[in-house]
Amino acid sequence: MKKGLVLCIMLGLALMLQAQDIKLNAPERKGGKTLLEALSERRSERVYVKKTMPEQTLSNLLWAANGFNRDDKRTAPTAMNRQEMELYVVFDDGAYFYDARKNVLQRVVDGDVRAALGQPNITNEAALSIVIVADLNKSSIENARISSGYISQNIYLFAASEGLGTVARGSFKGDDLAKALRLGEKQTVILVQPVGFLK
Ligand SMILES: Cc1cc2nc3c(=O)[nH]c(=O)nc-3n(C[C@H](O)[C@H](O)[C@H](O)COP(=O)(O)O)c2cc1C
Repeated sequence: MKKGLVLCIMLGLALMLQAQDIKLNAPERKGGKTLLEALSERRSERVYVKKTMPEQTLSNLLWAANGFNRDDKRTAPTAMNRQEMELYVVFDDGAYFYDARKNVLQRVVDGDVRAALGQPNITNEAALSIVIVADLNKSSIENARISSGYISQNIYLFAASEGLGTVARGSFKGDDLAKALRLGEKQTVILVQPVGFLK
């Protein structure tokens, strides 16, 4: 009887935790501005109007950044297809790991961790910030820094195409942010990229 009750509570807790994950819409792989138009409009924007990002835009953004566009390959290249890059998404009330394979945002932190992103004048007004993380179990820091550039540019081009604002940011305290996101020992933050709505 006691054992059954404990099991029920554990199952309930597990379901509650899963309920906090966000199942993303299937990404739309068509539409947007032409590549040349997006390149013409790519720029860093640091002033945003606070708004929630629509679910479809969120899914498209993350897919564009580093989603799977083939069975085992992604929109951003990595040396020897090591796929060492991971995206975390920071909202006002929590942080998520982007599981690109499952197309799910997995809740990793409850509560506001935006202070660890730095530059609050930019990040507090963004709809979200993408934290580009490298898993150094899979590749070298040199390769990861190069790989992060492709992801960052994907975000820039998607933002330009959608009329959103974004800026690549290197000014953050890596240790503080890693702690806030509960990263593992071999995970390191490479870039932070807020995305927000323009006036
Ligand atoms: C690796 C890297 C780090 C950057 N770090 C910051 C930053 O910490 N804060 C910021 O406001 N802009 C940052 N930027 C944005 C640059 O200032 C910006 O790209 C540059 O001024 C050129 O402007 P543009 O992107 O509009 O062409 C960074 C850009 C790169 C590529």
